[in-house]
Amino acid sequence: MRVRKKKRTADILNNSQKIISADFNINWKKYFGNKGEICLEIGCGKGKFINQMALEFKNKNFIAMEICPDIIISAIEKAEKNNLTNVFFIVDDVKNLEKYFLCGQVSELYINFCDPWPKKKHAKRRLTHENFLDVYKKILAPTGKIFFKTDNKDLFDFSLNEFAANGFELKNICYDLHKKNPELKNIETEYEEKFLILNMPIFYCEAILLRDKKI
Ligand SMILES: C[S@@+](CC[C@H](N)C(=O)[O-])C[C@H]1O[C@@H](n2cnc3c(N)ncnc32)[C@H](O)[C@@H]1O
Repeated sequence: MRVRKKKRTADILNNSQKIISADFNINWKKYFGNKGEICLEIGCGKGKFINQMALEFKNKNFIAMEICPDIIISAIEKAEKNNLTNVFFIVDDVKNLEKYFLCGQVSELYINFCDPWPKKKHAKRRLTHENFLDVYKKILAPTGKIFFKTDNKDLFDFSLNEFAANGFELKNICYDLHKKNPELKNIETEYEEKFLILNMPIFYCEAILLRDKKI
């Protein structure tokens, strides 16, 4: 996806208090002012989901990571507009995730509509590939949970296999979240909104870490 350069990006990146600074030393208490539960979204895009989560669950601490500065500034602006104190942002690549968290620090991890990388030779780039799951397993708390949504059935089936083969227990597997499982609490993302307008099914599952399996 081509992203248009925005004039205000540098200003927001340099001045927003919502961005984790470069000298960060895993002191999340400094940001949140409490030692509460930490929930993380990777590839947050324009941040509709994480901001709504932060609004609805005031007792939880939220962090959203996004590689593209011109995209994440929209997420940061939403948080600032709503004066949210329980959400912060990391502008970085997921491959650097371990820099920001201690072992077992994250209780919930959200992966929403990540790039499917359909070619087999690119499988390692999928955010549910076992190499990424190994990193998530380090930062996830015992019985920590991954919430996964996608519009791509092939990626979904691949991901179910990866979760199951790498020490996660699968729950609430849905092949059409909105039509077949309307009772599940769901907060929509920007991409999800677009797919729903096109009447496309949304695939969803929860993957719970089983600590007794090998890490
Ligand atoms: C298809 S968009 C989905 C955005 C949002 N989650 C949603 O559902 O509306 C995928 C997002 O993941 C980001 N992304 C892709 N690879 C990433 C990486 N390695 N690290 C961090 N973010 C990444 C992209 O920049 C993009 O904003």
